[in-house]
Amino acid sequence: MEHKGTKILQTERLLLRPWGADDAEEAFAHWMGDPEVTKYLTWTPHGDVAFTHALLKIWERESKAPSTYHWAIVLRDGDVLIGDIAVLRADEYQERGEIGYCMGKAWWGRGLMTEALSEVLRYCFEEAGFYRIDGAHAAENIGSSRVMEKCGLVREGVRRAFFRLPSTGERVDLVERGILREDYFRSGRL
Ligand SMILES: CC(C)(COP(=O)(O)OP(=O)(O)OC[C@H]1O[C@@H](n2cnc3c(N)ncnc32)[C@H](O)[C@@H]1OP(=O)(O)O)[C@@H](O)C(=O)NCCC(=O)NCCS
Repeated sequence: MEHKGTKILQTERLLLRPWGADDAEEAFAHWMGDPEVTKYLTWTPHGDVAFTHALLKIWERESKAPSTYHWAIVLRDGDVLIGDIAVLRADEYQERGEIGYCMGKAWWGRGLMTEALSEVLRYCFEEAGFYRIDGAHAAENIGSSRVMEKCGLVREGVRRAFFRLPSTGERVDLVERGILREDYFRSGRL
């Protein structure tokens, strides 16, 4: 593969585009300050919008690198910033990366993350040339489990008590998943 970076992508309802520092107020208001969204995540809610702004300045700079695959998820209807999706640790030699995503509560349960992840996988396999995309989620994170399942990420194992939730300090099992290039093309998308 040869890195292709954060190309602008579009689906029926969504625009996936690079992050800008100007996104801070909407991102903070819509999910980055919300403990319900971060319940199973590796980070805790931002204390204020200044923190979000400082982070997004870094993301904006990083987004120019061809090895970065990190999109702001925008609902095309109304041009509303609703979430975040990325392929982390994208490795050109291994042709592998790890999916991560989150979205504001107000937009949960409408099939939107399934739509976003499907498009990111299409881009990764059909355009960027990845061989494998990994995914992992807390065992009790049913929503994330369903999204990955629906997008073809096969359940490969469970790491017992692997992940200590920053939200509660509780140790939870981590479900490991993955989808290979051949899985993707076998699924008959082309
Ligand atoms: C996980 C998350 C991304 C799901 O996004 P979403 O857009 O609501 O998911 P979708 O609407 O595409 O749902 C896909 C399937 O999961 C199901 N689902 C979603 N959330 C669910 C929940 N909390 N409990 C049970 N099922 C759920 C949907 O019903 C749907 O199943 P169906 O097609 O059989 O009806 C969203 O809840 C979120 O941002 N959570 C907080 C951040 C997070 O946990 N990120 C993942 C870390 S690994």
